[in-house]
Amino acid sequence: MTAPDFPALRRRFPTLVERSYFATHCLGPVLDATLADLDEYRRTIPLRNRAIDTWLARIDEIRGLFARLVNAGADEIALAGNATACHAAVAAALVPAPGRARIVTTTLDFPSTRYLWHAQAARGFEVIDVRSPDGIAMPVDELVAAIDERVAIVAVSLVAYGNGALLRARPVIEAARAAGAVVVLDAYQAAGIVPIDVRALDADVVVAGTHKWLHGASNGLAFAYIRRALAERLAPAYPGWFGHARMLDFDPAYAPAAGARRFEQGSPSVEAVYAARAGVRFALEAGVAAIRARSFALSDYLIAGADGLGVSLGMPRVHAERAGVVCLDVRDPERAASELSALGIDVDTRPGTGIRLSCHPCNLHDDVDRVLAELRRYT
Ligand SMILES: Cc1ncc(COP(=O)(O)O)c(C=O)c1O
Repeated sequence: MTAPDFPALRRRFPTLVERSYFATHCLGPVLDATLADLDEYRRTIPLRNRAIDTWLARIDEIRGLFARLVNAGADEIALAGNATACHAAVAAALVPAPGRARIVTTTLDFPSTRYLWHAQAARGFEVIDVRSPDGIAMPVDELVAAIDERVAIVAVSLVAYGNGALLRARPVIEAARAAGAVVVLDAYQAAGIVPIDVRALDADVVVAGTHKWLHGASNGLAFAYIRRALAERLAPAYPGWFGHARMLDFDPAYAPAAGARRFEQGSPSVEAVYAARAGVRFALEAGVAAIRARSFALSDYLIAGADGLGVSLGMPRVHAERAGVVCLDVRDPERAASELSALGIDVDTRPGTGIRLSCHPCNLHDDVDRVLAELRRYT
């Protein structure tokens, strides 16, 4: 299959046309097709209850698109309002057992999910924080060493939120499988930039959301893949009518839906569902492997330029250990980000990361040249 013409596809993203946009890891650029979908949503709003069937069809459609994205069945996908809520639904259904009460996570995980997993100590879990020895790469060997029969849950990011470091997931998942632990992967920073095949990955739960590399225009929609066999042996602790086996029967008693769907609660944000479709379709049509390859071509070019300026990297250099983000250890990153923004170049920064730049496949080498020309001032 020939790779898509990403520079030509750029015109479908108004954000990328107007700006040198390097902040996809924060909020992905918006597609014109997404804006059209939101106009369509707007037209359904005055219909009120006559819109419900249309909205439910769109909700089903988005579950199916997420399923295709990660090679799952549609009944293995549960929607929620955000990724933390997906983690919470799974966490609440898992209980500590004598001799198996550990949760293993890492210090590079997203703060929101760290708060959530650490809070499970109040439910009888013991939380083990694994550190990255260099603070940059995902700590694969250390995670493997921490996994044994005492571990109930391994909750770890596939891609670190701060610097885009990619976990070599296979050894971690194999160790968890051998020890009988449930693996919950936070793939928010991976979805749309790192190909995810839940069958090949063999994780139990994969959580992701829409407003970064999947180009969702509105916050308020995330999803969890939950392996069918695991979902069906768990009882949701906080179920709701969207997770009922026959939702529209309004049965007074709860009966769990088949598969992951049982973890859904109440009405999702329909606006966020409309705002998500075109971005997922873009990923499916362009192909995530092609998106990743083009992003690497741009990030390698950016890294070569940064090397030339003597700027050091705050993320792994090898392709196998990074996703879409380049972190550059410039002087005064806050000031650099704000001054670059005034020049039409969007980057950001997080504690200890330097400036963070996402290489979106539809960025141009010219965008990278613009950044490199300005970076000289911060070396
Ligand atoms: C790795 C990761 N997980 C989760 C989230 C978001 O979580 P939530 O949807 O709960 O806001 C982010 C970024 O916002 C993230 O980078």
